[in-house]
Amino acid sequence: MRSVLRMDYFEIIGKKQLNGIVKISGSKNAVLPVMAASILNDSPLKLNNVPTLSDSRTMASILESMGSKIVFIDNNSINIDNSGLDNPFASYDLVRTMRASFYVLGPLLARFKKAKVSLPGGCAWGPRPVDFHIKAFEKLGVKIKLENGYVLANASNIRGAKIHFPKISVGATGNVLMLAVLAKGTTVIKNAAAEPEIQQLCNMLNEMGAEISGIGSNTLTIKGVDSLKNLDEISIIPDRIEAGTFMIAVAATGGKVVLENINSMHLKDVIKQLTQVGVNIIEKGNSLEIHAINIDIKPSIMETNEYPGFPTDLQAQWMILMCLANGDSTLKENIYFDRFTHILELNRLGCKIKLDGSLARIKGNRKLIGADVMSTDIRASAALIIAALCAEGKTTISRVYHIDRGYDKIEEKLTKLGAQIIRKK
Ligand code: EPZ
Repeated sequence: MRSVLRMDYFEIIGKKQLNGIVKISGSKNAVLPVMAASILNDSPLKLNNVPTLSDSRTMASILESMGSKIVFIDNNSINIDNSGLDNPFASYDLVRTMRASFYVLGPLLARFKKAKVSLPGGCAWGPRPVDFHIKAFEKLGVKIKLENGYVLANASNIRGAKIHFPKISVGATGNVLMLAVLAKGTTVIKNAAAEPEIQQLCNMLNEMGAEISGIGSNTLTIKGVDSLKNLDEISIIPDRIEAGTFMIAVAATGGKVVLENINSMHLKDVIKQLTQVGVNIIEKGNSLEIHAINIDIKPSIMETNEYPGFPTDLQAQWMILMCLANGDSTLKENIYFDRFTHILELNRLGCKIKLDGSLARIKGNRKLIGADVMSTDIRASAALIIAALCAEGKTTISRVYHIDRGYDKIEEKLTKLGAQIIRKK
């Protein structure tokens, strides 16, 4: 049954400092490829530290539509039993709601030698093609036909290949990896993604008997094996984008917060950039303290880059912080040419941001006034929440289903830190 999009909205009263302790959830962008890779496991697999998100439920629905038995054990762990998987088909109805659904193609081909998977739709900020995925699969010997919006693929004779992505792609790297591990011969992927979420996927596959080397670099070498062994349990890495979002929110509201359950190795550039603009950060093992009381945020010249650079998924959040800096800034988006739908909404709250191609010119020292605004995608919603926390008066943010895709109980976490935020129907 198509989930009815709940048109909830948030009501936020601004000018509240964030203070206290917040526990960061498991990573959305790690749990999705791990759930897809569970297709290669034909015995029960327990996932721990799973975030409660609509995206993880969407991936669960896709697996269940193929015959998977999934039990949400408690808030943060699920059991996936793919022993009964028998239908390598992912329908448009499910795939269109979440682009990462396309990750199932690689593992389905590895397990069933054939698959029919809907092409993903676009998203708020652009087409987001999958041509890198398709071309790489064809390099591995997959026969692919595109028909009525579906990919019909046959992988009866897969062999290792040299793959060089035109630009780094997290999804394409993950998708191809999950097939290459069972190809005959060796595959080398150049311009591979080094993101921590891909590193977790590589480590998971190696635990299952794959032979992947170069993990964490932009060149991955995969020596194909005849079969994989089953994995019983895996714990999802902390969500570095949720952590970065909270770090920026604390910097913007001028509070003092401890983030627990983080991996600061995955946040090196975020920590560096926030320190450079004046925020005090103390790393303490798997937690870190952000001190931003009475600090003056300095302006910055920033650009997004693939890992280990500054993440595009924090671009919108950084933008709002720079509106509060004591000078003008620029922010260049290098991953997506048009990931700027949040600018119009932020300007309605009193920001003054102009776009010059993929370079945003941001006026500092802005006084934000609450208004009615609308979410357009997961991370734009997070930026609107941060703006609302800093604005004078009341802000309402509609279409919060976007934020529920990528943030686990965000209003509860913010309320515990002193924010005045409620979800309304
Ligand atoms: C992943 O998306 C993340 N999603 C995105 O996070 C993130 O923004 C993105 O990586 C970049 O880091 C998940 O992990 C589920 P890409 P993905 O393939 O894999 C172009 C969030 O908010 N490209 O690395 O879809 C593409 O258009 C989401 O959590 C092609 O041209 O991104 C983009 O310009 C948003 N052809 C660039 O590569 C392709 O076949 C990077 O995209 C594939 C990608």
